[in-house]
Amino acid sequence: MDKEKTYELLVKQVESLIEGEINPAGQLANAAALMHETMGWWWTGFYLVKDDMLQLGPFQGPVACYRIKRGKGVCGTAWHENRTVVVDDVEQFPGHIACSSESRSEIVVPLHDNQGAVVGVIDIDSKDLATFDEVDARWLEEIAHVIERQVNL
Ligand code: SME
Repeated sequence: MDKEKTYELLVKQVESLIEGEINPAGQLANAAALMHETMGWWWTGFYLVKDDMLQLGPFQGPVACYRIKRGKGVCGTAWHENRTVVVDDVEQFPGHIACSSESRSEIVVPLHDNQGAVVGVIDIDSKDLATFDEVDARWLEEIAHVIERQVNL
């Protein structure tokens, strides 16, 4: 199946998996598990804004750092600039936070509240260079919208 079709299905699956549930940790954990297993990524998870920091949320993959400051690393940049950040080669990204030395490329997509403020991010790492492109960005932003609608972040 091509990437567009895989994502089209994934968006629907994420929505049906988390709709009707009211436990945010459980919803995010299941969303991470489904995305991780479907796409075969290295690390798939969430950081959530708390006490003016991004703090580790539900994820799948190797252990990760607990806290990221605003503007730091790929996640902190996506938060600070309120935009999706795609990194082809993490070694070329100034200030990249290496939770795992195996990670080579990364995409981070912000999650918003009703007012448009960033309340967290979806963070995905790959063991390969340049895994993510504008197709991934567009579909992961769709998944972010589903999560914003269905999860009390
Ligand atoms: N590499 C991220 C930190 C989180 S880990 O990838 C799970 C960053 O630079 O923000």
